[in-house]
Amino acid sequence: MSISKRKQEHIDIAMNQSVKFTEKTNGFEHYDLVHCALPELNVEDIHPQIQFLNKPLSSPLMITAMTGGFEGAKAINAALAEACQSEGVALGLGSQRQMLEDENYLDSFTIAREKGPDIVLVGNIGAVQLVGMTNLSPVCYAVERIEADALAVHLNVLQEVLQPEGNIRFKGMLHGIEKIVKELDVPVIVKEIGCGISREVALKLVDVGVTVIDVAGAGGTSWAGIESHRADRNALAGQFWNWGIPTAVSLEMISDIESLTIIASGGIDNGITMAKAIALGADLCGAALPFLHAYSESGADSVAALIRQWKEAYRTALLLTGCQDTISLQNRKPLRTC
Ligand SMILES: Cc1cc2nc3c(=O)[nH]c(=O)nc-3n(C[C@H](O)[C@H](O)[C@H](O)COP(=O)(O)O)c2cc1C
Repeated sequence: MSISKRKQEHIDIAMNQSVKFTEKTNGFEHYDLVHCALPELNVEDIHPQIQFLNKPLSSPLMITAMTGGFEGAKAINAALAEACQSEGVALGLGSQRQMLEDENYLDSFTIAREKGPDIVLVGNIGAVQLVGMTNLSPVCYAVERIEADALAVHLNVLQEVLQPEGNIRFKGMLHGIEKIVKELDVPVIVKEIGCGISREVALKLVDVGVTVIDVAGAGGTSWAGIESHRADRNALAGQFWNWGIPTAVSLEMISDIESLTIIASGGIDNGITMAKAIALGADLCGAALPFLHAYSESGADSVAALIRQWKEAYRTALLLTGCQDTISLQNRKPLRTC
């Protein structure tokens, strides 16, 4: 099956079928933020804004990688970029692998910078694609071509093992990451896609020069879930539907690694969960599937409305914890309730 066809299938399944973890949560329900009944702050004193990749974000939020590289992806990325531009949050594009083959769907990627001239925009490629590539200049060119501020390199071993057309040569991924970190002019973000990143893996990544990690933990979208809907063949995928490190656990495993900027994603579902993740040590939060569902309602408008809803709840959580800004919340350890 062509890459374009597969990308379309992933989006169709994620939009229309149940693909969330069924027996595992993101883990944030085990934490409560400590309520401050006496914040001594006015609402206008609250400043959720942060800087990410040298650009301002109105709130510590990013829509993470979903799509690109097929006909329908252009409209999705246009709407996501438009909403991110109007709401001042960051956007990750889906894997640019298809762009490395031909330019048939180039505009499904370049549309994002057109619609989001000021946004933090992140490109995307699989670590498995970097294995054995002696010349990385096509990847560097793909990042430049879409005017991205960073490249996300995804680790997706479970998905590759499960998909019929998967690339299952995993030896050399770390070396590939090391090379792309050295060669690219923009930072590299390493992310999972829903199974989380352990401390051991994070330390290996730090060792090769990675400075930003998106844990993309378990509790939201299950890629084994998506694969088990495909080609109704995948009994193995069904068994791994709930595999992975819950997002809150993954975050706790790595939150004390000082050199890292940490993105918490995987099942982040509202502004209060965002606040819990920040209090547990994340620098910003990410989410994918909730914004795809919002897009399917009425495009950019409903994506922007959902971003506003999360931002408002996040800001309210800052007030109710007595925190003037996002940095103050990072120093407010949440209560473990169970
Ligand atoms: C339809 C769909 C397509 C995705 N495609 C990519 C991709 O191309 N590259 C990538 O790094 N992650 C991809 N992801 C993973 C997301 O970026 C994210 O890590 C994961 O879905 C967990 O976040 P969530 O629980 O908020 O959905 C995709 C997710 C979805 C739902």
